[in-house]
Amino acid sequence: METEAPMRLTIRRPDDWHVHLRDGAMLNAVAPYTARQFARAIVMPNLVPPVTTAEAAAAYRERIIAATGADFEPLMTCYLADDAAPDELARGHAEGVWVAAKLYPAHATTNSAHGVTDVRNIYPALEAMQRIGMPLLVHGEVTDPEVDIFDREAVFIERTMTGLVRDFAELKIVFEHITTAEAAQFVADAGPLVGATITPQHLHINRNAIFAGGINPHAYCLPVAKREQHRLAIRAAAVSGSPKFFLGTDSAPHAIDRKEAACGCAGIFNAPYALESYVAVFEEEGALDRFEAFASENGPRFYGLPFNEGTVTLEQTAVQVPERIGDVVPFHAGETLRWSLVG
Ligand code: DOR
Ligand code: ZN
Repeated sequence: METEAPMRLTIRRPDDWHVHLRDGAMLNAVAPYTARQFARAIVMPNLVPPVTTAEAAAAYRERIIAATGADFEPLMTCYLADDAAPDELARGHAEGVWVAAKLYPAHATTNSAHGVTDVRNIYPALEAMQRIGMPLLVHGEVTDPEVDIFDREAVFIERTMTGLVRDFAELKIVFEHITTAEAAQFVADAGPLVGATITPQHLHINRNAIFAGGINPHAYCLPVAKREQHRLAIRAAAVSGSPKFFLGTDSAPHAIDRKEAACGCAGIFNAPYALESYVAVFEEEGALDRFEAFASENGPRFYGLPFNEGTVTLEQTAVQVPERIGDVVPFHAGETLRWSLVG
């Protein structure tokens, strides 16, 4: 009897265009998972205190490389505050420390208290970034408590994103972790300098997952998962073949006691099985041939960075995701995924 070898998919080494690697013991615990899957990653600056100077970013980069080994390249970002200095951004970019800068509306999410209170306050910084070709990464949610939490992304498009794109026509803008049909449409309709990252969780779950059988803090992240129609729109965008959409996990680990708490933190730790999670979606959508562009080509092309050398291989062999990794519950905990990263 012949047994067929499992199907394999080999793609150029991918990158993660949005990840939270944390610091200290958590950094050492989680960063190797990202480095196992990805060659490079855009590292979010929402530490305590936030990474606002080139010196702090350079030191953080060294701590990351100490945790991952030198085969992984962290791409550092500047946390934009109301007083973001155009000269400091330009200097850090010229020195090769900053790859991009992140706009968190103040109080939109974890450690965003020092974020931007009015986007007009950072117009001088954005003018400098536009001039030097430094991308702006946007957490696209309004913080107005009057706005329903499930509408905060769509309202952000009307109140802020449309104006940003109009006023900075030459600025590269990444609409991070899009979760709505409105955001997918906005990005698709915008010019080539507007792109978006898409997380595994927003491809797999809708808002029911947060409440399935009781409140489930491990399905809670920001932007929060939306209705099914939005999940389907995000899936369609990811597999569309459009170069505007690329992989960004938003892996955001919190220790179990910070999640399973009266006021649980937002964030899903998806780094350990990120490629396995994404590839399942492309398979289900009959779009395996478009996975490599999403994972390994669209991001570097948007950022103007070289493609990675080398490849990774996924095999159609089932893998069981553990209930816990250290003191963090991973995305897909206890589930069986159909593909495994084998090399
Ligand atoms: O769910 C989230 N967690 N969304 C964010 O925007 C931040 C992140 C974190 O740092 O925990
Ligand atoms: Zn994030």
